[in-house]
Amino acid sequence: MGKTTTSVNLAAALSMHGQRVLVVDLDPQGNASTALSIEHRGDVPDMYKVLVEDMPLGEVVKEVPDMPGLYCAPATIDLAGAEIELVSMVAREARLQRALGAYKAIEFDYVFIDCPPSLGLLTVNALMAATELLVPIQCEYYALEGLGQLLRNVDLVRAHLNPTLDMSTILLTMYDGRTRLASQVAEEVRSHFGDTVLTTLIPRSVRVSEAPSYGQSVMTYDPGSSGAMAYMDAAREMAYRGAAV
Ligand SMILES: Nc1ncnc2c1ncn2[C@@H]1O[C@H](COP(=O)(O)OP(=O)(O)OP(=O)(O)O)[C@@H](O)[C@H]1O
Ligand SMILES: [Mg+2]
Repeated sequence: MGKTTTSVNLAAALSMHGQRVLVVDLDPQGNASTALSIEHRGDVPDMYKVLVEDMPLGEVVKEVPDMPGLYCAPATIDLAGAEIELVSMVAREARLQRALGAYKAIEFDYVFIDCPPSLGLLTVNALMAATELLVPIQCEYYALEGLGQLLRNVDLVRAHLNPTLDMSTILLTMYDGRTRLASQVAEEVRSHFGDTVLTTLIPRSVRVSEAPSYGQSVMTYDPGSSGAMAYMDAAREMAYRGAAV
C-alpha cells in the first residue's frame, strides 16, 4: 500500500526541483491519473491503447496542469482488459519496455510506473521495463506479510526477464510516531534491508490522503504539511543517491 501516493508525490517533488518526470499509470483504477488531474474516462488515449493497440506513447502522454516538467500517461478502465488480451500477444512482457524505448519526444530524468495491486502481466511489464524498483512499506503489521511474495516475484523476473532489475529503494510510509508498532516495523525493515531504506519516513497524514480528491499531489495541495515536506526530503535523498551512482 502507498504505491500511488508515493509515485505521485515523489514525481511532483522531483519536477518541482526542475526534473522532467513521467508518471505511467499502469493501474486500471487510474488513481495516479486522478491525483494528477489527467482525464482518464471515456475513450481518452491511455496505456491500454499503448500496450494492446501499439499506439505511440507520445499520443497518450499529457502535461500535468500547473506542474511544469511533470507528465502523466493515464490509465482508463479499459486497461483491465489488457491483463487478458496481453496473454496471447507476442513479447507480451515487453510491451511497455518497447513503448518507452520508442518514445523520444521528451528526455525524462525519471519515469515512475505506478503498478496495480496484483502481480499480473501489467506489473510484469513494469518490472521488465524498469531498471529500479521502489517499494513503499506501510509501517503496520500486515505490510511485512506481502513482502516475501514480492521478493520471490522479483527474483523470478530477474531470472527470466530482467536480470539487472535493482530493488534500489524502500520508503517507509504511513508512519505514526505515536505507536510502538510503527517504530518496530521501521526498525525491522531497516535491519533487513539496510541502506536500501531511505532515512526519510513519510508520516501518516490526513493532508496526504485528501489531496487526490482535489486532483493534486500533496506537494501543491498543502506544501507546508508534514507529508509534503517528508516527500520533498525523500525526493532529495533519491536524487542524491542517483547522482552518487
Ligand atoms: N502518508 C499517508 N498518510 C495518510 N494516508 C495515506 C498516506 N499514504 C497513503 N495514504 C492513503 O492510503 C490509501 C492507499 O494508498 P495508495 O492508493 O497510495 O496505495 P496503493 O498501493 O496505490 O493501493 P492500490 O494497490 O489499491 O493501488 C489511500 O487512501 C491513500 O490516500
Ligand atoms: Mg495504487
